[in-house]
Amino acid sequence: MTGYSEALIDHFEHPRNAGAMDDPDAEAFVTNPVCGDSMRIFLRIEDERVAAASFLTSGCPASIGTSSAATELVTGRTLDEAVALTREDYADAVGGLPKSKIHCSVLAAAAVREAVETWRKEHADAAAGAAS
Ligand code: FES
Repeated sequence: MTGYSEALIDHFEHPRNAGAMDDPDAEAFVTNPVCGDSMRIFLRIEDERVAAASFLTSGCPASIGTSSAATELVTGRTLDEAVALTREDYADAVGGLPKSKIHCSVLAAAAVREAVETWRKEHADAAAGAAS
């Protein structure tokens, strides 16, 4: 795996928080339009904060490594902090990515945002329903 950092290779070979989560509070499935690789993320949300995260990714080492790093990065953060993380933050978390692989960190950023947005929408709808 030429061009990958030691951190990326470590995340790829020993993914953190890999696997589905039982009864998650939020989840999202995203596909990278460039290559077709995909990621499903699961979040446990408590008090507007990510209490736990896990993932299933079908893709290249860079997408699996950044998915793994993303679950560590978002855990403990507020939802605002989690959605503010960029693909550059996820790439930095694995020691950077080779130029040809920069697009691979898009999956993690998109999945986190979509999961949080879906959760917020569901809870806004629930709150609106409770108020009516
Ligand atoms: Fe598809 Fe990396 S080549 S995400």
